[in-house]
Amino acid sequence: MTPHKKVAILISGGGSNMVSLAKSMVGDHPARPCLVLANSVDAGGLVKAADMGIETAYVDHRPFKGDRAAFEAELVKPILASGADIVCLAGFMRVLTADFVGQFKGRMLNIHPSLLPKYTGLHTHARALDAGDHEHGCTVHEVTPVLDDGPLLGQARVPVEPGDTADDLAARVLVQEHKLYPAVLRRFAAGDKTPVLLPS
Ligand code: GAR
Repeated sequence: MTPHKKVAILISGGGSNMVSLAKSMVGDHPARPCLVLANSVDAGGLVKAADMGIETAYVDHRPFKGDRAAFEAELVKPILASGADIVCLAGFMRVLTADFVGQFKGRMLNIHPSLLPKYTGLHTHARALDAGDHEHGCTVHEVTPVLDDGPLLGQARVPVEPGDTADDLAARVLVQEHKLYPAVLRRFAAGDKTPVLLPS
C-alpha cells in the first residue's frame, strides 16, 4: 500500500478550514494530518486540533517584528520535523517570503475567500459588495511568492443576495470553503492538479 502523504496545516485563528481538512483525511484518503501549526498560541484551532489527536505547535510572530526571515526560520522547523509532504495554509494570515515558499514549491496550497484573481489581500467580502458583484466565492491555489497568486486548484461560487452584509457573505462563502478545500486536497494528494470547480 502506498504510504499516506503527510499534511501540515498552518492556521492563525479558529481553524474551521483546518477542521474540515483534518476530518476529511480518513479512510481511503491518500493523506493524513501530521501537524497543525499557528503563529500564535491564542489561535483557537490549536485546541481543536489537539482534541482531534493531531500534533500541534506554534511560533509567535510578534517577537520577530520587522524580521520576517527570522520568524520563518523558526516556523519552518516544526514543518520539517513533521515530515510534511504537503503544506496547507488555512486562514494563515502572515505574508510569506519567496525563500520560505520556495522550500515547498509545488506542494503548498492556500485557500482565499474570493474568486481570484479578484480581491487579493484582505476585506474580500466587503470589496465584492462594494463592487456590486452578483457572484462571489473562494479559491484554492498553489502558493507562489506572489500573494494570493499561483496555479488554480479549485474554485467555489456563491450568489450575492440583495441586502447581504459582508458577514452574511463571509458565512455563505465559508460553507463552500469547507467543501472546496477537502475536495482539492484529496485530488492533489492523489497527484491530480485538475481544478475542482463547485457551482453555486
Ligand atoms: C477563511 O475564510 C479563509 O479563506 C481566510 O481566513 C478564514 C479563516 O477561517 N483566509 C484568508 O483570508 C487568507 N488570505 P478559519 O480559521 O475558520 O478556517
